[in-house]
Amino acid sequence: MNTNILVIGGTGKTGRRVVKQLQDKGIEPKIGSRSATPSFDWDNKDTWVKALEGIKKMYVTYYPDLAVLGAKKAIESLTYLAKELGVKKIVLLSGKGEVEAEACEKIVMNSGINYTIVRASWFNQNWSESFFLEPILSGEVALPMPDVLIPFVDADDIAEVATVALLDDNYNNTIIEVTGPELVTFKDVINTIAKASNRSLHFHSITLEQYVEGMKQMQIPADVIWLIEYLFSHVLTNPENQKITNDIEKVLGRPAKTFLAYAEETAKTGIWNQVKVEEL
Ligand SMILES: NC(=O)c1ccc[n+]([C@@H]2O[C@H](COP(=O)([O-])OP(=O)(O)OC[C@H]3O[C@@H](n4cnc5c(N)ncnc54)[C@H](OP(=O)(O)O)[C@@H]3O)[C@@H](O)[C@H]2O)c1
Repeated sequence: MNTNILVIGGTGKTGRRVVKQLQDKGIEPKIGSRSATPSFDWDNKDTWVKALEGIKKMYVTYYPDLAVLGAKKAIESLTYLAKELGVKKIVLLSGKGEVEAEACEKIVMNSGINYTIVRASWFNQNWSESFFLEPILSGEVALPMPDVLIPFVDADDIAEVATVALLDDNYNNTIIEVTGPELVTFKDVINTIAKASNRSLHFHSITLEQYVEGMKQMQIPADVIWLIEYLFSHVLTNPENQKITNDIEKVLGRPAKTFLAYAEETAKTGIWNQVKVEEL
């Protein structure tokens, strides 16, 4: 059993898929998360040494986002510890067009440890494994910026690229920018999911202020509201984030997954046709 690869966030959207990719290649990585044994908690440094013991390479996903207060300090401390403990390579998942995330990237890049930065646009799986699932299940999706162009990228593709980066030293000290193969709008997304899941979904265009107010009324924690508002106001609207890269194809030798392919695959799992508990 090979346990010298650590996947931090190994139960999350991309981490879980990196773990599966490695296992399919006969490599059994160690998972770094609060629910793993030993546990790894970003908020408790006492857990870090045990999780990093014997580790040579690691895939690092920071939760909730490299843009939040405290992320830079955490990445700095983790990178310092990794170097001290003999880690030879870090593959860092980052966000495209986020100034704060780039500051975190620089820490890893200047550490002297081999690195690959996997810089991603918004994930398709936000619609099936994260914060956009709930509005899809309710049938009413109210979002600002209905026509902004987003190159949604699939978590399967990100994980495959991250796995290559972990295992292939040709990607040492490079930045790979992963986007989907097309630009889609929120309106396109809703139409595609409605068609694929055979459901009637209604899209409502609202202002960012209304969206934030709605989150406050739902008593969503203030730091989560801050992050979502930041993602809409700074990340989605950044012209750099409205560009398609072909890095997935360059690394994997095949095109990136389309939103339609993701929606059709995901619809088959039944996730968008669940009956909500209150409807029973
Ligand atoms: N979502 C996107 O569209 C997107 C786009 C570009 C970049 N990114 C970047 O991707 C990274 C991950 O975001 P994500 O949305 O995909 O999340 P995710 O990987 O799905 O996050 C969940 C993972 O984080 C772990 N986790 C949560 N809190 C933790 C803590 N305090 N300590 C240790 N582990 C913890 C969870 O395991 P446990 O619950 O067991 O701890 C789980 O493994 C972020 O840095 C984000 O900036 C995301």
